[in-house]
Amino acid sequence: MIFAKLTKFLAAGALAVSVAAPLTSVAARADSLTIGFSQIGSESGWRAAETKVAKIEAEKRGITLKIADAQQKQENQIKAIRSFIAQGVDAIFVAPVVATGWDTVLGEAKQANIPVVLLDRDIDTKDKSLYLTAVTSDQVLEGKVAGDWLAKQTGGKCDIVELQGTVGSSPAINRKKGFEQAIASHPDMKITRSQSGDFTRAGGKEVMESFIKATNGGKGICAVYAHNDDMMIGAIQAMKEAGLKPGKDILTVSIDSVPDMFKAMADGDANATVELSPNMAGPAFDAIAAYKKSGTVPPKWIQTPSTLHLPDTAQAEYDKRKDMY
Ligand code: AHR
Repeated sequence: MIFAKLTKFLAAGALAVSVAAPLTSVAARADSLTIGFSQIGSESGWRAAETKVAKIEAEKRGITLKIADAQQKQENQIKAIRSFIAQGVDAIFVAPVVATGWDTVLGEAKQANIPVVLLDRDIDTKDKSLYLTAVTSDQVLEGKVAGDWLAKQTGGKCDIVELQGTVGSSPAINRKKGFEQAIASHPDMKITRSQSGDFTRAGGKEVMESFIKATNGGKGICAVYAHNDDMMIGAIQAMKEAGLKPGKDILTVSIDSVPDMFKAMADGDANATVELSPNMAGPAFDAIAAYKKSGTVPPKWIQTPSTLHLPDTAQAEYDKRKDMY
């Protein structure tokens, strides 16, 4: 039932991606393909949804998908990639937990002639030939969308506390960068405190509790910017426990657009979220199928959209997604 609903939701394009150069008519089934996916773990609701959608999109295309859960550790991802190479899979997908340290193992995949696709996070490398394509959002833009919204909302005057994602990960680096770019032209907007909550609810709650304590009950904090919704949900809980009204006393803006965030916005506890599509695997499967079938080289970057959602549509968005995650 849920599977059928999600399939309909995906087919309706609610989680569609825009591609730099369209990968036309590659709905072609790719029955004989076996793909290894080194997934980071399950730190957030968004991550769990990405895994679920990947399974659905693989099944739709008749692809055998082998998923290895790295439990947030790069060393486990490297081991998984080596194991996929040894198994001789047709392609490897990797959602890289951090940006650096991939050259050796991706070089081994290249040597074995196995194309690699990066999902949702980028890597820091001089050698772009180590991967075929990356299916990601523009993470700098996500930070910018969040910062622009906050600047408009506060008339360019706001002391902000920031909950960063996993240290060294591309979304933590880029979402910070984009947000800072957006507020740079507003001299009365500044980030007063910033710490990593590792993209988890528990991490977001703990860091927010420490910010509230350090500011004598949240005094002077105008807004929280979180690099993902899960950390913000944790922060909302911390604010409530401290007797504050999130969404009113302290504004919130975060990234992902998971159902719980729409619920928080509909309840008046949160103010804005920037959507990150969990359907990273669908376009990646299509790119690999076309590459294997006819040698079509995909664009180096398949970009997913970054849409801002506000409370006015929160209930409708929640109803649309509540069973999908
Ligand atoms: O790389 C995407 C980020 O990773 C998501 O925003 C976050 O929720 C996840 O953990």
